[in-house]
Amino acid sequence: MDAPDIEVRGLTKTFGSVAAVNDLTFTARAGRVTGFLGPNGAGKSTTLRALVGLISPTAGEALIGGKPYDGIAHAPQRVGAQFEAAFHPGRSARGHLLTYAPLAGVTAQRCDEVLAMVGLTEAAGRRVGGYSMGMRQRLGLATALLGDPQVLILDESANGLDPAGVHWLRGFLRNFAAEGGTVLLSSHLLSEVELTVDDVVIVAKGELRHSSSMEDLRNLTSSRVEVRSPRQEALESFIASRYLDSATLTSPTTARIDGASAQEVGAAAFADGLELHGLEQQTDSLETVFMRLTTEGASA
Ligand SMILES: Nc1ncnc2c1ncn2[C@@H]1O[C@H](COP(=O)(O)OP(=O)(O)OP(=O)(O)O)[C@@H](O)[C@H]1O
Ligand SMILES: [Mg+2]
Repeated sequence: MDAPDIEVRGLTKTFGSVAAVNDLTFTARAGRVTGFLGPNGAGKSTTLRALVGLISPTAGEALIGGKPYDGIAHAPQRVGAQFEAAFHPGRSARGHLLTYAPLAGVTAQRCDEVLAMVGLTEAAGRRVGGYSMGMRQRLGLATALLGDPQVLILDESANGLDPAGVHWLRGFLRNFAAEGGTVLLSSHLLSEVELTVDDVVIVAKGELRHSSSMEDLRNLTSSRVEVRSPRQEALESFIASRYLDSATLTSPTTARIDGASAQEVGAAAFADGLELHGLEQQTDSLETVFMRLTTEGASA
């Protein structure tokens, strides 16, 4: 399948005095799962809504395959979207899908297929009003999949899923992308989608903060070593001779060495005959990196 890319270019959306999205530019490529991440109120849902024509941009463009959603022929068969679901509580899951089937141009058989795909076959006849949050998420996803689309735009789809559900969604989306599809999946939790996404687009306060592969984001987790020695002079000359550019004395008997491992520093200290009373490796978690990117002003 030759799926279209998603391109957001200079997108701005203001609601009265609130700039929900401000000059946002990024691409989500075909054959990849792109995580669209940021804290509450960052502008994720607003951007995804603009992509499927639910809101019109104040400025800029939100394009799928180079076109705005309204310009895409047979859009429900090309683009599937899931937003925080509002289902008619009295309807069954199957009934809900049947009402959407004509719009997606599909038959009742396809409704049963997608119910099976999301694991709702047994519950298909029950009232949606009695569904758990995870079951509603699954039904939302089933709705997005009805038209057998090449592009999936999913707003917080992993939210509320149990571990088995998250595992299933991960496998499903990875497979969808491996077959060439385009996936843009929002979340306010990096940990929730960390193992699912190939690329990340991180936003905060409506603005782009970071965009890279997941691998490059992982490389931002820096590691450092804290060494303690009672021999002040020996410690000073040790770091001056070995770690001049990466070490800082944090007390007369303690030094912090950035970008180093405990193993490497321990071996060097041993070779130099430096008496050590402490050697501790400290590594920023991915969560810390995410926090830093979303709370600081600078973009990367
Ligand atoms: N229809 C609207 N009218 C007024 N303000 C809105 C509207 N939609 C969104 N906003 C505002 O725009 C900002 C971004 O909201 P948005 O829903 O896009 O964030 P989000 O990243 O999806 O957050 P969350 O993680 O909580 O879902 C918020 O300040 C929100 O209050
Ligand atoms: Mg949202």
